[in-house]
Amino acid sequence: MRKLILSALVATGLIGASGAALASSEGAPLMKPEFSFNGFFGKYNQTQLKRGFELFHQVCSNCHGLRLVAYRNLADVGLTADEIKAVAAERDIDDAPNDEGIVSKRAGRPSDKYISPFPNEKAAAAANGGAAPPDLSLMAKARVGGPNYIYSLMLGFSEEIPEHHVVPEGKFYNKYFPGGNISMPPQLMEDLVTYSDGTKATPEQMAVDISAFLNWAAEPELDARKSLGLKVMVFLGVLTALLYALKRQIWKNIH
Ligand code: HEC
Repeated sequence: MRKLILSALVATGLIGASGAALASSEGAPLMKPEFSFNGFFGKYNQTQLKRGFELFHQVCSNCHGLRLVAYRNLADVGLTADEIKAVAAERDIDDAPNDEGIVSKRAGRPSDKYISPFPNEKAAAAANGGAAPPDLSLMAKARVGGPNYIYSLMLGFSEEIPEHHVVPEGKFYNKYFPGGNISMPPQLMEDLVTYSDGTKATPEQMAVDISAFLNWAAEPELDARKSLGLKVMVFLGVLTALLYALKRQIWKNIH
């Protein structure tokens, strides 16, 4: 029995130790901005999604892909059919092989998925000091904290590097990135973009807009899911009331 308790203690001790080791290699605790889509009644704000798209398109898409989002889906964020055509046609993609089997290029179409800036992962890494910029389609789902992580990461670059922390050549200090050294240069400078709705592009504004946009990219059905959830709750509430009334009716002579 004593042996058992002892080994249990050792085991929990070990788990505790490895947990602590994990925590220290993770980034700083995340900032948590107010997103319009937080909470049970939260929804996307379409003007915000459009701003996020403008920033993604003008800045992030020079390095990052968004290969799970088709251009025509951008109607969701408020782009008109003509704007979608124009955005799609900005990049070329391999056409289907012709009758001789020769592949040529054609301009993108609304039905295409967002065309990535680099032809492949190796080219992407080579152009970015060895670290390929990851595709951002599912980034809001892939990282713990989701949109809070993206928000924090975008604002987490800092010139103030803690003592004893070494930033290798070609990397940048960012306290929210695990390990602290990221291959992406700081992005959100004041007035980096000019928003079409006239909103001032401060770093905080851009960070919240891009995080909302990338959350939409990863979970476009959020609004539909929440409104269905609400309808189901209302339905169950009404059903419960009806069944209760029925039960009272049936049992009333027996009491
Ligand atoms: C000059 C190229 C470049 C631009 C422009 C750029 N990034 Fe990056 N980004 C990178 C690289 C390179 C990495 C990989 C970093 C690493 O693994 O160290 C990266 C990584 C990321 C990551 C993933 C971090 C992680 O946890 O793995 C996110 C999120 C991100 N970028 C968001 C953005 C957003 C949003 C924009 C636009 C505002 C943007 N990036 C613009 C080069 C770029």
